[in-house]
Amino acid sequence: MIALVGCGTVGGGTALLLTRDIEHIKAKTGLNIGLKYVVDINFENAKALGIPPTLYETDYQKVIDDPEVTIVIELVGGLTFARDVVTKALNAKKNVVTANKALLANYGESLFRLARENNVCIGFEASCAGGIPIVNAITTGMAVNKIDAIYGIVNGTCNYILTQMIDKGQSYKNALKGAQKAGLAEADPTLDVNGMDSAHKISILSSLCFGYNCELDHVSASGIENIDIYDVMLGKEMDYTIKLLAIGEAHGSKLSLRVHPAFISNTHPLARISGPFNGVSLYGHAVGHTMYYGRGAGALPTASAIGADIISVANGTQKINFDNYKFWPDLTEKPTYMEPSEIASKFYLRLNVEDHVGVTATVTRILAANDISISAISQKEPKPEEPANKRIPLVILLHKTTKGKLDTAITSLQKESKISKNIIVIPVIDEKAENIR
Ligand code: HSE
Repeated sequence: MIALVGCGTVGGGTALLLTRDIEHIKAKTGLNIGLKYVVDINFENAKALGIPPTLYETDYQKVIDDPEVTIVIELVGGLTFARDVVTKALNAKKNVVTANKALLANYGESLFRLARENNVCIGFEASCAGGIPIVNAITTGMAVNKIDAIYGIVNGTCNYILTQMIDKGQSYKNALKGAQKAGLAEADPTLDVNGMDSAHKISILSSLCFGYNCELDHVSASGIENIDIYDVMLGKEMDYTIKLLAIGEAHGSKLSLRVHPAFISNTHPLARISGPFNGVSLYGHAVGHTMYYGRGAGALPTASAIGADIISVANGTQKINFDNYKFWPDLTEKPTYMEPSEIASKFYLRLNVEDHVGVTATVTRILAANDISISAISQKEPKPEEPANKRIPLVILLHKTTKGKLDTAITSLQKESKISKNIIVIPVIDEKAENIR
């Protein structure tokens, strides 16, 4: 029997699937499964969804103590109570299914170890990219591949906000307000917009992709809070679409894990992932580029992934994979990471400069002194009505260079009195070349 702990948005969707659709699930899978408890302290959502009150329980210890319960679904979120629920369930030799990316990104290694010690397993498909079966794609569908890279748009809130900016020309602030009004962004969207939610997800997925215990502390993360509509629109003119990208990439024996806004070339299929949708590109040595698309959040889409985990736990396949595969974070080494300064990329720069003789020459001299080559440069003619000393944008696209060289150049540029200190830097990502071998 199954116990569900936490009946909020995703918990409600899961309870609905496991009650309303249970006969369909049983008929399709041949499994005799059923929901025994819905644990929460407030059952408003459960009632609104028509979940039978006979399932309601306020004391989660009852679930832990019930020998009939073999699967505990943790949908509480956060780190403290959720960790307690998962730890107690594993110690009571119950399998766990969770959507909690923060929990796994922070404590995955110890929780997987605890599961192994108790001869049970953890399903976490719903923790990354919501309804997209990306964990299954990496662990099963891509099993024979050496994975070269994973590029993901894995936060629907950010993708919705950026899409509103691109399509409607809205400012970041207005687009965020719109996302909250549409029920897409949390009342406190901090972890979404600062890139940490994507960082949690890419650390989990990279561990599976690369067979290392990838640590959250080594994901360099920046979010979308400071994206200016001016740059979004200039990018659009240049055939680039701005996205919050989560990247895990193997460079020889080193890994680079990062989350940052990027201009993606419109030739890359990820540029077309719009609104609240998620998209993930995986690059395998045998298969080349594969791509996955779907809803990364929402009650039923996320419940779909939880349901898949319940089925694979119940029919034994999750445990077989957990026992046999060698890439779970409790079994693997920590990787060697590439220094962020070593990462090579094309970049977009926007400087605000005085329209004064020699300013562009100064900029190009500083870039050249740091071995950085310019691929395009543009400055809009100042409007006649603007004051002569008004700073104007100078936009430069750079050929591939390292972040280290660029940072040194930026420090020099910021020392120039005719250049404003706030220099906008956005990596530019072209379609990644496949390396089938
Ligand atoms: N808040 C996330 C998003 C979904 O907006 O994509 C849960 O991780």
